[in-house]
Amino acid sequence: MKNIAVLISGHGTNLQSIIDHIKAGKLKCNLAVVISNKEDAYGLVRAKKAKIPAYFIDHKDISREEHEKKIIEILKKYKVDLVVLAGYMRILTPHFIREYKNRIINIHPALLPSFPGTDGYGDTWKYGCKVGGCTIHFVDEGIDTGPIILQKINPLRENDTLESFKKRGLKLEHQAFPEAIKLFCEGRLKIEGRKVRVSK
Ligand code: GAR
Repeated sequence: MKNIAVLISGHGTNLQSIIDHIKAGKLKCNLAVVISNKEDAYGLVRAKKAKIPAYFIDHKDISREEHEKKIIEILKKYKVDLVVLAGYMRILTPHFIREYKNRIINIHPALLPSFPGTDGYGDTWKYGCKVGGCTIHFVDEGIDTGPIILQKINPLRENDTLESFKKRGLKLEHQAFPEAIKLFCEGRLKIEGRKVRVSK
């Protein structure tokens, strides 16, 4: 069974969905550890409730490298095979990415390559798109540029508000992440250049 770590910065609804899928037996992996760079991230409470080791690693007043060194120590301690970025709002250094090459996945709240950055839903909305969605991708050294594992489409409705659009989008995220993690854990993903081949 693969050991996974979930890195968060906030509310942790994606983390919750991963916990729930594991509990329901729909996702077979060991959620070994949760790490947050924010002390008040509600995701830490969710992890503790589920009895998963949870760490707050403050990024303030230390260099990016020092911060990541502390995280990597924890990942090593728990023999982590896959690092899942679930609303982790920090950019990883090339060192971290090389250390876990092709073993870090991120969820982004837009259909990449459109609207990379910190406000995928807001940017999709402001642009007046007719479809939005989310993307799960491997993390490479660019910002939201790694090979795409899967995408879910969220068409906009005439009566949508940004809030209603986001709410539906998050629901899709909660399906997409466990799906992608399952594919990784079953060894069904193969990166070929920009493409991720998914075997049956
Ligand atoms: C999610 O919408 C996720 O896609 C987004 O942060 C939110 C975290 O929600 N991630 C990014 O924007 C990464 N650039 P959650 O804490 O409730 O899972």
